[in-house]
Amino acid sequence: MLSTLPSVEWTVDSLARARRMAEEFHREFRGEPELWARAPGRVDLMGSHTDYNLGFVLTLPISKDTWIAARHRDDGIVRLHSLNLEATDQFRLDQINRAAGSKWRNYVRGVPAILQQEGLKLNGCDAVVHSTVPLESGLSSSAALECAVATIFEELGGWHLSPQRKAQLCQKAENQFAGVSCGILDQYSACLGLDGCALVLDCRDLSTRTIHVAESIRIVICNTMSPRRLSGGEYARRRSECEQGASLLGVNALRDLPPSVLASRRKELSEVVARRCEFIVDESARVELLAQALSDDDRASIASLCAASFAGARDLYEIVSPAMETMMKCMLAAPGILGARQAGAGFGGCMVALVDAAQTGAFRASVIDSYSRSTQTAPEVWPVVGARGAEAFHL
Ligand code: GLA
Repeated sequence: MLSTLPSVEWTVDSLARARRMAEEFHREFRGEPELWARAPGRVDLMGSHTDYNLGFVLTLPISKDTWIAARHRDDGIVRLHSLNLEATDQFRLDQINRAAGSKWRNYVRGVPAILQQEGLKLNGCDAVVHSTVPLESGLSSSAALECAVATIFEELGGWHLSPQRKAQLCQKAENQFAGVSCGILDQYSACLGLDGCALVLDCRDLSTRTIHVAESIRIVICNTMSPRRLSGGEYARRRSECEQGASLLGVNALRDLPPSVLASRRKELSEVVARRCEFIVDESARVELLAQALSDDDRASIASLCAASFAGARDLYEIVSPAMETMMKCMLAAPGILGARQAGAGFGGCMVALVDAAQTGAFRASVIDSYSRSTQTAPEVWPVVGARGAEAFHL
């Protein structure tokens, strides 16, 4: 069984990571892990906040991921140690309660709670988790954790879910257990990734289409290093404003609102709700256009689509923080830039740049220099490639 699992690409870094996790496992639990699983973070290349409006997103599951090393237990207890947080959680599978004031514990606990509600048989385990997805920075570290946890429980239980089903159950865990009213984007990206590919995700029928970004283009994450303040309450408010717009205009979701109908009936909405609707309708329509432009290396379209997305995020959806504005200026002034925009929910965290591949090094150096000088904070800037979705693997 184990020998049929894929192996991760062994580099100096991944070997050192596995060794460090195995050592930590031995220190915490004695002995060695038997099972390994991973799930990637993601960056959205187009389609901010379109997922809960059942529209489209162009997403890239990225080569930063969460790994779990685990060993089966017979007593129904789960003990999970986080290397990043240097903290351990422990709970019984027959009595999973919310952990007060501990988000990461609820991301973990929610998954077995929901899997059990589905009637799936779970086994306890000792486990060590380690993530290279920066936490709370808009790259979906929570979904990577949830989907890696679900994958470990699959392996321990000897049953398997389709990637689509796994994504839906992990979203349900985040909605119901962690109390975050997120859409399907993050968990879908974490489960359905393919090596080297971006995906167009239809958030209504949950189908995906593979996109090959031209080799002459690099996708570069630029982390503002500013925490995503207020994002929880503001996120829920954006979502309810969109729902209000859809209901007042008599559509099931903003996905169903043609731009011409929004233009002619705009006066029926409050000014704020009208702006939110305008952003979502335009943003969702930009997804297919950017997917095409990235495949064709159509640089004029990449620049104008990304600029329109950022302007809408700033002026219509109001999810752009001052640190993001500064980062945008630094990205646009750097050599090799083709287009840049927000990522994730906004309100700080990471942004994304599309860069001429041959100039990636110069782009990175320039953004680090100019952003550091403007903010007295050194940003993290790194290129990413498309990564496979959640999977068990062997060493
Ligand atoms: C967060 C949510 C996603 C999605 C994005 C914005 O990452 O978890 O469901 O709504 O924000 O596109």
